[in-house]
Amino acid sequence: MSPTRRFEGRHALVTGAGSGIGLEIAARLAAEGAHVTVADRDAGLADRAAAEIGGTALHLDVTDAEAVAAIDLTPGVPDILVNNAAVCSDTPLPRMSEQEWDTDLATVLKGPFLVCRTLLPRMAARGSGSVVNIGSINASAYYGNDAYSAAKAGLESLTRSLAVRYGRAGVRVNLVAPATIRTPIWNERLARDPALMERLARWYPLGRIGSPEDVANAVLFLASAEAAWITGTVLRVDGGLSAGNAQLVTDILTEDYLA
Ligand SMILES: NC(=O)c1ccc[n+]([C@@H]2O[C@H](COP(=O)([O-])OP(=O)(O)OC[C@H]3O[C@@H](n4cnc5c(N)ncnc54)[C@H](O)[C@@H]3O)[C@@H](O)[C@H]2O)c1
Repeated sequence: MSPTRRFEGRHALVTGAGSGIGLEIAARLAAEGAHVTVADRDAGLADRAAAEIGGTALHLDVTDAEAVAAIDLTPGVPDILVNNAAVCSDTPLPRMSEQEWDTDLATVLKGPFLVCRTLLPRMAARGSGSVVNIGSINASAYYGNDAYSAAKAGLESLTRSLAVRYGRAGVRVNLVAPATIRTPIWNERLARDPALMERLARWYPLGRIGSPEDVANAVLFLASAEAAWITGTVLRVDGGLSAGNAQLVTDILTEDYLA
């Protein structure tokens, strides 16, 4: 099957694109014809990713208001913006410091606000643009990581407000909410607990955890013209987790529930 080129001539900016899900999204956008600005606070990761996919590296900490306001728009105002950068503290709430709370909130929620504050008025002035925020199923149910979850819930709200505010100006704003995806964000946990992913997979109706490709597929759809009449939506990419709990159903039902 020949690859589609839905983003030929488009400019996409992806934050946190040096690693994991962001890198996959950036690579897929580039493979479909977009010029991609690979933004990451880790300069080494940004440079490597940009070289790998043939994009432009942007050394950017999305929590730095001045740096975000000064983003170099020489390659043009992006047609596509993916707010993907995030950090996630593992410290349990009773022991979490104010600084850890602030860092999660600043990266997950304030960062997208700052980037949107800089870019969306320019997209609106041009009359077109598509923003995809990367949320999490943690926004809608508790799976640990209190500060991160609260920030992701805020990001869903911000997605709706921006969608309504900028809809008439031709700018769409949506959110993809993944569940467990195997990326470097899990490396520390996996070093301590190598069987973790196999245990987590049992909870998923589709029987496996997700991949960065699963998330990128949804992001590219929402960014594309195929989603021209979709804005303000939350698209869960979660292997069915929020529909129900496969392990619980297996434990409750005595009969063979597939028969
Ligand atoms: N991996 C999962 O299980 C999972 C599940 C649900 C949602 N998500 C979301 O997917 C997105 C990507 O996560 P991932 O698993 O690929 O993580 P990752 O840690 O592999 O990649 C995150 C990238 O963001 C960059 N980054 C962090 N803070 C930044 C900042 N202030 N400014 C600029 N760049 C910054 C990091 O350097 C890194 O390259 C995040 O929004 C995350 O919340 C991930």
